[in-house]
Amino acid sequence: MRITKLKEQIGAEVTGIDLREPVSEADRSALYDAAVEHVALVIRDQKFEASDYRRAAEMFGELMEDQNRMYLAPGEPMVSVLSNRHKASDGGPAKVAKNASWHTDHTNQELPPKFTCLYAVELPDQGGGTSVVNMRAAYEALPEDMRDRITGLKTENTLISSARAATGNPDVVKAREALNGKLVTHPLVRTHPDKGTKAIWFHQNKTETVTGMDPHETQAFLTELLETAIKPEMTYLHEWRLGDMLLIDNRSAMHKAGFDFDHSQHRMLYRVLVRGDRPF
Ligand SMILES: [Fe+2]
Repeated sequence: MRITKLKEQIGAEVTGIDLREPVSEADRSALYDAAVEHVALVIRDQKFEASDYRRAAEMFGELMEDQNRMYLAPGEPMVSVLSNRHKASDGGPAKVAKNASWHTDHTNQELPPKFTCLYAVELPDQGGGTSVVNMRAAYEALPEDMRDRITGLKTENTLISSARAATGNPDVVKAREALNGKLVTHPLVRTHPDKGTKAIWFHQNKTETVTGMDPHETQAFLTELLETAIKPEMTYLHEWRLGDMLLIDNRSAMHKAGFDFDHSQHRMLYRVLVRGDRPF
């Protein structure tokens, strides 16, 4: 097995290992550590069925259910299917392009996933990459007064912010209403439980408020924070090849899907989430 760094601030590539086969403890911990260190880890040339993929992801921790139970791999309830051919609950095309902004997964839950794992099953000829940004680097590069200003702020999270509901997926908006205003509080700047480093961390569409701001001020503030904090050298655009498994350490990352591809072609990824701790 060989692990090669892809960019100075983010990304590493792994070759020479087949995760369908038993993996030694040394290799397992090298993969885990590389994901933590490099934030985004690409494991090339896998040949997974959904069940192989679920078993491979289990090396990195206990899996958790995707909160959207509509699109699961047959017989594998922990493997969800991301596809541009999904239908919404009313039978029309599902609204997918809304996720093309920087976010981290499932922040409306108390224990959001520590790792998001993606695997390419079917790909368009070009485009449709997944971008990952090192939010630890983003935090560290902020001017000190800005770091001081945002450290200690809290986000209140729900399925979709009221400020975003008008343009959101109708299924998600309906599910949000059923929650009756229940909000989950997280730090805007979280501490990595393994490394002690700090990272800016949120899902803008799921953030109802940031401490001291109303929902609309919150959205404007988070947009500006992303524009200020994220620099190209902190980002990695993963241009998918069949057989790639991409592991994202959500405790130091935000990510976004790319919808810049020919939508008459099929893009399908499997997603598995590895359970995380309570962010602090
Ligand atoms: Fe995501």
